Amino acid sequence: MTAKTKVIWLTGAGSGIGKSIAEIFVRKNHNVICCSRDAEKLKRLKTELNDKAGLVDIYKLDVTNHSEISKVYNEIKKGKEIDCLINNAGITSFNLAADDTMEEIRKIIETNLLGSIFTIKTVLPDFIKRKKGTIINILSVVTKKVFTKSSIYSASKHGLLAYTNVLREEVREHNIRIINVIPGATKTPMWSNKVLEKHSDRMITPSDIGKIVFDVFTLETNMVAEEIVLRPIKGDL
Ligand SMILES: NC(=O)c1ccc[n+]([C@@H]2O[C@H](COP(=O)([O-])OP(=O)(O)OC[C@H]3O[C@@H](n4cnc5c(N)ncnc54)[C@H](OP(=O)(O)O)[C@@H]3O)[C@@H](O)[C@H]2O)c1
Repeated sequence: MTAKTKVIWLTGAGSGIGKSIAEIFVRKNHNVICCSRDAEKLKRLKTELNDKAGLVDIYKLDVTNHSEISKVYNEIKKGKEIDCLINNAGITSFNLAADDTMEEIRKIIETNLLGSIFTIKTVLPDFIKRKKGTIINILSVVTKKVFTKSSIYSASKHGLLAYTNVLREEVREHNIRIINVIPGATKTPMWSNKVLEKHSDRMITPSDIGKIVFDVFTLETNMVAEEIVLRPIKGDL
Protein backbone atom coordinates (compact mmCIF):
# COMPACT_ATOMS: atom_id res chain seq x y z
CA MET A 1 0.00 0.00 0.00
CA THR A 2 1.18 3.55 -0.70
CA ALA A 3 0.34 6.91 0.84
CA LYS A 4 -2.12 7.36 -2.00
CA THR A 5 -3.96 4.13 -1.20
CA LYS A 6 -7.53 4.87 -0.12
CA VAL A 7 -9.61 2.59 2.05
CA ILE A 8 -12.98 1.64 0.57
CA TRP A 9 -15.68 -0.16 2.57
CA LEU A 10 -17.85 -1.99 0.05
CA THR A 11 -21.03 -3.92 0.83
CA GLY A 12 -22.40 -6.62 -1.48
CA ALA A 13 -18.94 -7.22 -2.93
CA GLY A 14 -19.34 -10.90 -3.83
CA SER A 15 -21.03 -10.62 -7.23
CA GLY A 16 -22.37 -8.32 -9.94
CA ILE A 17 -21.77 -4.59 -9.61
CA GLY A 18 -20.02 -4.91 -6.24
CA LYS A 19 -17.50 -7.38 -7.61
CA SER A 20 -16.71 -5.04 -10.52
CA ILE A 21 -16.31 -2.09 -8.15
CA ALA A 22 -13.88 -4.17 -6.05
CA GLU A 23 -11.93 -5.18 -9.17
CA ILE A 24 -11.31 -1.66 -10.43
CA PHE A 25 -10.42 -0.13 -7.06
CA VAL A 26 -7.95 -2.96 -6.34
CA ARG A 27 -6.49 -2.68 -9.85
CA LYS A 28 -5.87 1.01 -9.12
CA ASN A 29 -4.09 0.11 -5.87
CA HIS A 30 -6.78 0.93 -3.36
CA ASN A 31 -7.61 -1.14 -0.29
CA VAL A 32 -11.10 -2.60 -0.59
CA ILE A 33 -12.85 -4.02 2.45
CA CYS A 34 -15.24 -6.44 0.79
CA CYS A 35 -18.37 -7.50 2.67
CA SER A 36 -21.35 -9.71 1.99
CA ARG A 37 -23.18 -12.62 3.64
CA ASP A 38 -21.50 -15.43 1.70
CA ALA A 39 -17.96 -15.97 3.05
CA GLU A 40 -17.09 -18.52 0.35
CA LYS A 41 -17.91 -16.04 -2.43
CA LEU A 42 -15.67 -13.47 -0.73
CA LYS A 43 -12.79 -15.96 -0.49
CA ARG A 44 -13.17 -16.72 -4.20
CA LEU A 45 -13.19 -12.99 -4.95
CA LYS A 46 -9.94 -12.49 -3.01
CA THR A 47 -8.34 -15.33 -4.99
CA GLU A 48 -9.65 -14.00 -8.31
CA LEU A 49 -8.31 -10.53 -7.53
CA ASN A 50 -4.86 -12.08 -7.15
CA ASP A 51 -4.24 -10.04 -4.02
CA LYS A 52 -0.46 -10.09 -3.76
CA ALA A 53 -0.28 -6.54 -2.40
CA GLY A 54 -2.71 -7.16 0.47
CA LEU A 55 -5.31 -4.77 -0.92
CA VAL A 56 -8.35 -6.97 -0.30
CA ASP A 57 -9.88 -7.50 3.14
CA ILE A 58 -12.93 -9.70 3.45
CA TYR A 59 -15.60 -9.71 6.15
CA LYS A 60 -18.77 -11.76 6.28
CA LEU A 61 -21.45 -9.19 7.00
CA ASP A 62 -25.21 -9.09 6.83
CA VAL A 63 -26.14 -5.40 6.57
CA THR A 64 -29.54 -6.03 8.13
CA ASN A 65 -27.77 -6.75 11.40
CA HIS A 66 -26.78 -3.49 13.05
CA SER A 67 -24.62 -5.02 15.77
CA GLU A 68 -22.72 -7.06 13.15
CA ILE A 69 -22.03 -3.81 11.24
CA SER A 70 -20.65 -2.16 14.41
CA LYS A 71 -18.51 -5.22 15.14
CA VAL A 72 -17.01 -5.26 11.63
CA TYR A 73 -16.44 -1.48 11.72
CA ASN A 74 -14.63 -1.70 15.05
CA GLU A 75 -12.40 -4.47 13.64
CA ILE A 76 -11.59 -2.36 10.56
CA LYS A 77 -10.89 0.69 12.72
CA LYS A 78 -8.17 -1.12 14.63
CA GLY A 79 -5.87 -0.78 11.63
CA LYS A 80 -7.27 1.77 9.20
CA GLU A 81 -9.45 4.78 8.51
CA ILE A 82 -12.19 4.45 5.93
CA ASP A 83 -12.13 7.04 3.15
CA CYS A 84 -15.21 5.84 1.29
CA LEU A 85 -18.29 3.78 2.08
CA ILE A 86 -20.01 2.19 -0.91
CA ASN A 87 -23.53 0.94 -0.17
CA ASN A 88 -24.06 -1.61 -2.90
CA ALA A 89 -25.69 -4.59 -1.14
CA GLY A 90 -29.21 -4.97 -2.42
CA ILE A 91 -31.98 -7.43 -3.17
CA THR A 92 -35.27 -7.31 -5.01
CA SER A 93 -38.36 -9.30 -5.84
CA PHE A 94 -40.11 -9.13 -9.18
CA ASN A 95 -43.62 -9.47 -7.75
CA LEU A 96 -46.80 -7.48 -8.01
CA ALA A 97 -47.37 -5.54 -4.78
CA ALA A 98 -50.34 -7.78 -4.08
CA ASP A 99 -48.11 -10.85 -4.20
CA ASP A 100 -45.11 -9.77 -2.06
CA THR A 101 -45.09 -11.61 1.25
CA MET A 102 -44.57 -9.69 4.49
CA GLU A 103 -41.23 -11.50 4.84
CA GLU A 104 -40.07 -10.33 1.38
CA ILE A 105 -41.19 -6.78 2.13
CA ARG A 106 -39.32 -6.73 5.44
CA LYS A 107 -36.14 -8.23 3.95
CA ILE A 108 -35.94 -5.79 1.04
CA ILE A 109 -36.49 -2.72 3.24
CA GLU A 110 -34.07 -4.02 5.87
CA THR A 111 -31.34 -4.72 3.29
CA ASN A 112 -31.62 -1.86 0.80
CA LEU A 113 -32.81 0.95 3.04
CA LEU A 114 -32.07 0.22 6.70
CA GLY A 115 -28.84 -1.67 5.94
CA SER A 116 -27.48 1.34 4.05
CA ILE A 117 -28.63 3.79 6.72
CA PHE A 118 -26.98 1.62 9.40
CA THR A 119 -23.61 1.62 7.59
CA ILE A 120 -23.87 5.38 6.99
CA LYS A 121 -24.65 6.00 10.67
CA THR A 122 -21.65 3.84 11.57
CA VAL A 123 -19.06 5.79 9.54
CA LEU A 124 -20.59 9.24 9.95
CA PRO A 125 -19.18 10.26 13.37
CA ASP A 126 -15.61 9.55 12.18
CA PHE A 127 -16.19 11.28 8.82
CA ILE A 128 -17.50 14.35 10.66
CA LYS A 129 -14.58 14.30 13.11
CA ARG A 130 -12.03 14.03 10.29
CA LYS A 131 -13.91 16.54 8.13
CA LYS A 132 -13.77 14.27 5.10
CA GLY A 133 -15.27 11.14 3.63
CA THR A 134 -17.27 9.89 0.68
CA ILE A 135 -20.50 7.91 0.71
CA ILE A 136 -21.56 6.30 -2.56
CA ASN A 137 -24.96 4.62 -2.82
CA ILE A 138 -25.92 2.32 -5.65
CA LEU A 139 -29.57 3.23 -6.20
CA SER A 140 -31.61 2.44 -9.32
CA VAL A 141 -33.58 4.02 -12.18
CA VAL A 142 -36.69 3.00 -10.25
CA THR A 143 -36.10 6.37 -8.53
CA LYS A 144 -36.60 8.08 -11.92
CA LYS A 145 -39.38 6.08 -13.54
CA VAL A 146 -42.23 3.80 -12.48
CA PHE A 147 -41.69 0.09 -13.09
CA THR A 148 -44.39 -2.39 -12.15
CA LYS A 149 -43.43 -5.47 -10.10
CA SER A 150 -40.90 -3.42 -8.14
CA SER A 151 -42.98 -1.65 -5.49
CA ILE A 152 -40.95 -2.55 -2.42
CA TYR A 153 -37.64 -2.30 -4.24
CA SER A 154 -38.70 1.16 -5.47
CA ALA A 155 -39.78 2.18 -1.98
CA SER A 156 -36.39 1.11 -0.59
CA LYS A 157 -34.38 2.98 -3.23
CA HIS A 158 -36.58 6.11 -3.06
CA GLY A 159 -36.19 5.97 0.72
CA LEU A 160 -32.40 5.90 0.52
CA LEU A 161 -32.41 8.68 -2.09
CA ALA A 162 -34.55 10.87 0.19
CA TYR A 163 -32.46 10.06 3.27
CA THR A 164 -29.16 10.83 1.57
CA ASN A 165 -30.45 14.00 -0.13
CA VAL A 166 -31.26 15.38 3.33
CA LEU A 167 -28.03 14.05 4.82
CA ARG A 168 -25.99 15.70 2.04
CA GLU A 169 -27.26 19.14 3.04
CA GLU A 170 -26.45 18.43 6.69
CA VAL A 171 -22.86 17.31 6.07
CA ARG A 172 -21.68 19.66 3.33
CA GLU A 173 -20.01 21.82 5.96
CA HIS A 174 -17.95 18.79 7.02
CA ASN A 175 -16.57 18.24 3.51
CA ILE A 176 -18.42 14.93 3.17
CA ARG A 177 -19.41 13.89 -0.34
CA ILE A 178 -22.66 11.98 -0.93
CA ILE A 179 -22.84 10.44 -4.40
CA ASN A 180 -25.93 8.63 -5.63
CA VAL A 181 -25.34 6.36 -8.62
CA ILE A 182 -28.55 5.47 -10.41
CA PRO A 183 -28.10 2.59 -12.85
CA GLY A 184 -30.58 1.06 -15.25
CA ALA A 185 -30.72 -2.64 -16.13
CA THR A 186 -27.30 -4.17 -15.54
CA LYS A 187 -26.15 -7.68 -16.42
CA THR A 188 -25.90 -9.29 -12.96
CA PRO A 189 -27.24 -12.31 -11.06
CA MET A 190 -30.04 -10.08 -9.75
CA TRP A 191 -31.92 -10.86 -12.97
CA SER A 192 -33.35 -14.25 -13.93
CA ASN A 193 -31.55 -16.32 -16.58
CA LYS A 194 -34.54 -15.82 -18.82
CA VAL A 195 -34.17 -12.01 -18.76
CA LEU A 196 -30.40 -12.23 -19.13
CA GLU A 197 -30.70 -14.53 -22.15
CA LYS A 198 -33.21 -12.24 -23.82
CA HIS A 199 -31.72 -8.81 -23.06
CA SER A 200 -28.08 -9.16 -22.01
CA ASP A 201 -26.70 -7.63 -25.22
CA ARG A 202 -28.40 -4.32 -24.45
CA MET A 203 -27.88 -4.31 -20.66
CA ILE A 204 -25.17 -2.29 -18.91
CA THR A 205 -22.09 -4.28 -17.92
CA PRO A 206 -21.14 -4.19 -14.22
CA SER A 207 -17.58 -3.20 -15.14
CA ASP A 208 -18.87 0.00 -16.79
CA ILE A 209 -20.60 0.91 -13.53
CA GLY A 210 -17.39 0.10 -11.65
CA LYS A 211 -15.45 2.50 -13.88
CA ILE A 212 -17.91 5.35 -13.28
CA VAL A 213 -17.90 4.77 -9.52
CA PHE A 214 -14.11 4.84 -9.57
CA ASP A 215 -14.01 8.02 -11.66
CA VAL A 216 -16.42 9.95 -9.44
CA PHE A 217 -14.60 8.82 -6.32
CA THR A 218 -11.23 9.97 -7.65
CA LEU A 219 -12.40 13.42 -8.77
CA GLU A 220 -10.26 15.44 -6.41
CA THR A 221 -11.63 18.94 -6.81
CA ASN A 222 -14.10 21.08 -4.90
CA MET A 223 -16.81 19.66 -7.17
CA VAL A 224 -18.87 16.55 -6.47
CA ALA A 225 -21.00 14.43 -8.82
CA GLU A 226 -24.06 14.22 -6.58
CA GLU A 227 -26.29 12.12 -8.79
CA ILE A 228 -25.41 10.04 -11.81
CA VAL A 229 -28.03 8.34 -13.96
CA LEU A 230 -26.74 5.48 -16.14
CA ARG A 231 -28.94 3.79 -18.72
CA PRO A 232 -28.44 1.35 -21.57
CA ILE A 233 -28.22 3.41 -24.77
CA LYS A 234 -31.25 1.53 -26.04
CA GLY A 235 -33.24 2.52 -22.96
CA ASP A 236 -34.87 0.67 -20.09
CA LEU A 237 -35.94 -2.96 -20.41
N1 LIG B 1 -28.62 -5.35 -11.78
C1 LIG B 1 -29.32 -4.25 -12.04
O1 LIG B 1 -29.98 -4.12 -13.08
C2 LIG B 1 -29.29 -3.10 -11.08
C3 LIG B 1 -29.74 -1.85 -11.52
C4 LIG B 1 -29.74 -0.78 -10.64
C5 LIG B 1 -29.25 -0.94 -9.37
N2 LIG B 1 -28.81 -2.17 -8.95
C6 LIG B 1 -28.32 -2.27 -7.59
O2 LIG B 1 -26.99 -2.70 -7.61
C7 LIG B 1 -26.66 -3.30 -6.36
C8 LIG B 1 -25.91 -4.59 -6.63
O3 LIG B 1 -26.78 -5.52 -7.25
P1 LIG B 1 -26.35 -6.48 -8.43
O4 LIG B 1 -27.22 -6.17 -9.58
O5 LIG B 1 -24.88 -6.45 -8.61
O6 LIG B 1 -26.87 -7.89 -7.90
P2 LIG B 1 -26.11 -9.08 -7.14
O7 LIG B 1 -25.06 -9.65 -8.00
O8 LIG B 1 -27.20 -9.97 -6.67
O9 LIG B 1 -25.40 -8.35 -5.92
C9 LIG B 1 -26.02 -8.07 -4.72
C10 LIG B 1 -24.97 -8.19 -3.62
O10 LIG B 1 -25.58 -7.82 -2.37
C11 LIG B 1 -25.20 -8.78 -1.40
N3 LIG B 1 -26.21 -8.81 -0.35
C12 LIG B 1 -27.51 -9.10 -0.46
N4 LIG B 1 -28.11 -9.02 0.73
C13 LIG B 1 -27.16 -8.67 1.62
C14 LIG B 1 -27.13 -8.44 3.02
N5 LIG B 1 -28.25 -8.56 3.77
N6 LIG B 1 -25.97 -8.08 3.60
C15 LIG B 1 -24.85 -7.95 2.87
N7 LIG B 1 -24.79 -8.16 1.55
C16 LIG B 1 -25.94 -8.53 0.93
C17 LIG B 1 -25.06 -10.10 -2.16
O11 LIG B 1 -24.14 -11.00 -1.56
P3 LIG B 1 -24.54 -12.15 -0.53
O12 LIG B 1 -25.72 -12.86 -1.08
O13 LIG B 1 -23.30 -12.96 -0.40
O14 LIG B 1 -24.84 -11.42 0.75
C18 LIG B 1 -24.46 -9.61 -3.47
O15 LIG B 1 -23.06 -9.55 -3.37
C19 LIG B 1 -27.99 -3.50 -5.64
O16 LIG B 1 -28.13 -2.48 -4.65
C20 LIG B 1 -29.02 -3.30 -6.73
O17 LIG B 1 -30.23 -2.82 -6.23
C21 LIG B 1 -28.80 -3.24 -9.79
